[in-house]
Amino acid sequence: MTGQGDDFARRVVELIDAGNGALGRHDRQAAVVSYARASELLFQQAAVSADYDEKVRFAQRARQLLESVRALKGERAETLAIGEANTGLEAAGESSVAPAPRVSSGVMFADIAGLDEVKETLRLRMIYPARHPEKLDRYGLSMGGGMLLFGPPGTGKTLVARAVAGELDTPFFSIKPSDILSQYYGQSEARLAELFETVRGCAHGAVVFVDEIDAIGASRTRSDVSEPSRRLLNQLLNELDGVHGRPKGLLFLAATNEPWLLDQALLRPPRFSEKCYIPLPDQPARRRLLELRLAGCPLAGDMDLQRLADRTEGFSGADLVELCERAKQIPFREAILRGSDRPVGQADLDEALRRVRPSVSEESLQRYERFGHD
Ligand SMILES: Nc1ncnc2c1ncn2[C@@H]1O[C@H](COP(=O)(O)OP(=O)(O)O)[C@@H](O)[C@H]1O
Ligand SMILES: [Mg+2]
Repeated sequence: MTGQGDDFARRVVELIDAGNGALGRHDRQAAVVSYARASELLFQQAAVSADYDEKVRFAQRARQLLESVRALKGERAETLAIGEANTGLEAAGESSVAPAPRVSSGVMFADIAGLDEVKETLRLRMIYPARHPEKLDRYGLSMGGGMLLFGPPGTGKTLVARAVAGELDTPFFSIKPSDILSQYYGQSEARLAELFETVRGCAHGAVVFVDEIDAIGASRTRSDVSEPSRRLLNQLLNELDGVHGRPKGLLFLAATNEPWLLDQALLRPPRFSEKCYIPLPDQPARRRLLELRLAGCPLAGDMDLQRLADRTEGFSGADLVELCERAKQIPFREAILRGSDRPVGQADLDEALRRVRPSVSEESLQRYERFGHD
């Protein structure tokens, strides 16, 4: 490589290292930004490279990095395309209000490792009733209220909500109150009203998901709740009540890492009256998650995922995603620096395991379980 090429490789590796460091601190947002920048540099280099093989190699590496970005953001990698390179640079976080109903979220229950009981609950409470409204009518049953998904961060709550929409092949509206509050200050009520207007027009049903609801759902009696957030919560309550029961097939889900903060009004029927605990993955779920996350990436024959699943007790889904991404970055970094091309091996996973620690404490776990039993 030329001097300029060395500079480029060094810069990419610096960004990858910065991303790895951020992962070690569980700062996924920072890791996403670093990996996305590295990916952009690689795409740029691919664009100007005169050597065809090099062009292809850089573009491939850029895409691998974008896949890491998507994995860390909790998106599906399959939807990736070169033309989407820039989307990786929007940094973490999805849009606060889905601008238009997306036909299906693209995520299915099969994409979720473990959580069998949760899936069964959601099938019984939401999916079958939405698919067979005539059976509900026949037995004089109603759809029931919304469901609150609660549990430690990174256990797949957002993924589960998307998968309900995916299973039903129905539009998915995701609302993240913190984004609405910060981005549309003063206009947040208007945005929320607009969203519910669209939802009311979904004659064939939709899934409405309020992610991280604690951002506005914290009890209004607390003195540290801001006025805009109090107003937005009141409006959300009104909109939820206004939309309830019509049209048929509207499903409401919310997610929180801090269920004990929530205003009781949110937990009363017909709002989010059912609670569903999303726990840390058990051993088989961890194994499945590792398989899912390493699929589509060249693997050495020495990989022992069973053992790795044994050794990662207490890890959340997001921690396991970090572990895999970190392991993949090791041969990736070598490939950038030395042009090597080796698969991910057990040693890479072991090295990553030395650096990634579980992000959920035993103490907070007990708090979730207590909340579930109340
Ligand atoms: N059970 C699971 N199966 C598959 N992926 C999971 C699972 N739990 C977490 N993940 C992955 O971990 C990351 C964080 O998940 P997310 O749904 O955002 O968690 P939460 O909303 O509970 O904080 C995402 O990349 C997601 O795909
Ligand atoms: Mg989430």
